[in-house]
Amino acid sequence: MRVVEAFRSAFGADPATVWHAPGRVNLIGEHTDYNDGFVLPFAVPWGVTAAVSPRGDRTIRLLSLQSSPDPVTIADPGDAQGWARYVVGVFAMLGDQVPGADIAIDGDVPQGAGLSSSAALEVSVASALNDLHALGMTPMEVALLGRRAENDFVGMPCGIMDQAASALCEEGCALFLDCRSLGHRRVPLDLAAHGLRLLVIDTRVHHEHAGGEYSKRRAECESAARKLGVAALRDVTDLAGALDRLQGAERRRVMHVVTENHRVEALIGLLRAGAVTEIGALLNASHLSLRDQYEVSSPELDVAVEASLRGGARGARMTGGGFGGSAIALVAEDRLESVQRSVSDAYAARSWQPPRFLPAVPSPGARRLS
Ligand code: GLA
Repeated sequence: MRVVEAFRSAFGADPATVWHAPGRVNLIGEHTDYNDGFVLPFAVPWGVTAAVSPRGDRTIRLLSLQSSPDPVTIADPGDAQGWARYVVGVFAMLGDQVPGADIAIDGDVPQGAGLSSSAALEVSVASALNDLHALGMTPMEVALLGRRAENDFVGMPCGIMDQAASALCEEGCALFLDCRSLGHRRVPLDLAAHGLRLLVIDTRVHHEHAGGEYSKRRAECESAARKLGVAALRDVTDLAGALDRLQGAERRRVMHVVTENHRVEALIGLLRAGAVTEIGALLNASHLSLRDQYEVSSPELDVAVEASLRGGARGARMTGGGFGGSAIALVAEDRLESVQRSVSDAYAARSWQPPRFLPAVPSPGARRLS
């Protein structure tokens, strides 16, 4: 394994453990996790592999085959820069429970595609430390630790979806997660058996203001929940009544969150009934709601979705936080080419850089490799 060789040549010994954790796509349930709602992500075949050995002191030595092939030494957590913050954040959250470590990282999650490379990084390192130091954390506790690292150390106020998907998914399944109770269930998702594929369309555009807009959406949802007298928007049962009491952006945000939670449940109902092809309509509805009510899409995502549908996709939507990143399209096998051509042509007609197409199959969550 490449990462083990890199570890050996940098640190002069074999790693004590090697863990892999995947990125994710979200099938449906967008911007619902921090509203205590429902999500349905699945793990992708791309992820982060972390080779780790404990040290006798509190130093962290870290290398990445992608961005920093020579190890950097981090004696003080405050010194961590860039991607290293996601790793150091995990150590910071564990505090005195763990000493320092030597770590080599190898990742193949397409960067900036909105497929949660940061959650994969947190979960791979947290899983390795859990294993090395026999901390006894469940996969959900590993996910919660990763989210805390991201919220409290990196400073990104994300919900639990990405880390939970990375830690808990199983091959061939999506993960239905209730983000309030953290109750979860694997939902079999055998697209190939229905002659379908899930195509990830990476727009290769990521808008700079995404982080600020994300925090703003969260704050709007929290403010709306306060006005409605509920703990979280998950608790809104009378949508019409709620909308009467709100105005402007808050009204639109509530409309999205409440209907999106219903779409997650509807989609699970269709899967349970074996009506896999029919989920396309829910993907389309989710996209329109994210575009018009939640206002987190982008021209590149909208064109990817519209051109996919023109090319014959059964349904398509943006996936993840939005403002760039990736869309997903549900496509019959015999339409794959025409969908890709339609999207590529639409991008070329606008002189945008070509999008990237990645077929995603539901893959296993975090696991030990050696
Ligand atoms: C990002 C966050 C997740 C979730 C999605 C939107 O990926 O990390 O917690 O909020 O956006 O659904």
